Amino acid sequence: MTNYAFASAPHVVGQSDAPDPTPHIPAEESLAPVISNDWINAEYKHLVVQGSPKSLAAKPGQFFNLLCPSPDDGDLWLRRPQSIYRIDRAQGRLEFLYKSAGRGTRGTATMKPGDKLNLVGPLGIGFTLDPAWKHIVVLGRGVGLATLAPISQAAGDAGIRVTAILSARAPELAMSADLFEKVGDVMPVLDTDGSSAVENVEAILNRLIKEKRADAFFTCGSNRLLQLMKTLGKQHNIPGQAAMEQVMACGLGPCYVCVRTFEVNGHKELRRVCVEGPVFDLQECVGW
Ligand SMILES: Cc1cc2nc3c(=O)[nH]c(=O)nc-3n(C[C@H](O)[C@H](O)[C@H](O)COP(=O)(O)OP(=O)(O)OC[C@H]3O[C@@H](n4cnc5c(N)ncnc54)[C@H](O)[C@@H]3O)c2cc1C
Ligand code: FES
Repeated sequence: MTNYAFASAPHVVGQSDAPDPTPHIPAEESLAPVISNDWINAEYKHLVVQGSPKSLAAKPGQFFNLLCPSPDDGDLWLRRPQSIYRIDRAQGRLEFLYKSAGRGTRGTATMKPGDKLNLVGPLGIGFTLDPAWKHIVVLGRGVGLATLAPISQAAGDAGIRVTAILSARAPELAMSADLFEKVGDVMPVLDTDGSSAVENVEAILNRLIKEKRADAFFTCGSNRLLQLMKTLGKQHNIPGQAAMEQVMACGLGPCYVCVRTFEVNGHKELRRVCVEGPVFDLQECVGW
């Protein structure tokens, strides 16, 4: 296995019994044993690792920056951000759902049970739930569904009903329906039958608003769907949160690689997705 050089010793999950030397710091670098890393369809893998106590404190919408092994003879620069997909505190496990896209995620796809995944986190600001809400709507596309799964679980735990609109190219890519079904109603909308068209999603959202099943909006994974929720949220005064993606380097704040433009009280502002997000007020998102 590759030898990595560390600036400080990472927490080795399952081996470090010493008390946490930095209880005031919410994130850490850890070496997490891989439990499984299986394909769930032709494009996506489901990675399960054993998490350190600090990483298991992750909140929905937060992310980890993974040091992916190289998939070839070349070096691999920079970590890759991945949202937390599921936090199984009872079993001490962290789960990720990721698309095998470029060299980083292809490297992650080579990891086998027993390998140690180096991750830094939990990072960023996640979603928030208002206990006054009775019914929320989550709208995600593609891998955005991975980011929205944990907020749906948290809503279910808080007794808030969820309507999940899962947008995908084809039925097999409308992932995590089982997770969403546990906490509410699932509506897949697909490119294959045209139901993912913005006009159709708009009609679904308008119906939910009319039926008073939309106390708040949550979205991730599609600029078109973000713009739609933003417009309807503004028209009907429905609060919303969007998880934004941006290419990252440090994931910690100093490099400013991840800035995006936001609009706050009529003024354009640059914000770093890694530390000021990745979850933002929907009405402040300009999109991409
Ligand atoms: C906060 C956050 C959460 C994410 N959560 C998930 C998730 O749960 N599942 C998932 O499949 N993907 C997720 N992504 C996207 C994921 O980070 C990229 O797919 C991945 O970095 C691509 O790396 P690569 O080496 O395979 O591809 P390459 O294209 O070779 O990556 C090259 C560089 O670009 C960066 N990069 C490329 N695409 C993205 C992107 N969309 N967002 C951010 N950085 C990118 C990489 O970090 C790397 O530095 C998330 C991105 C962010 C910012
Ligand atoms: S990735 Fe470095 S500041 Fe956000």
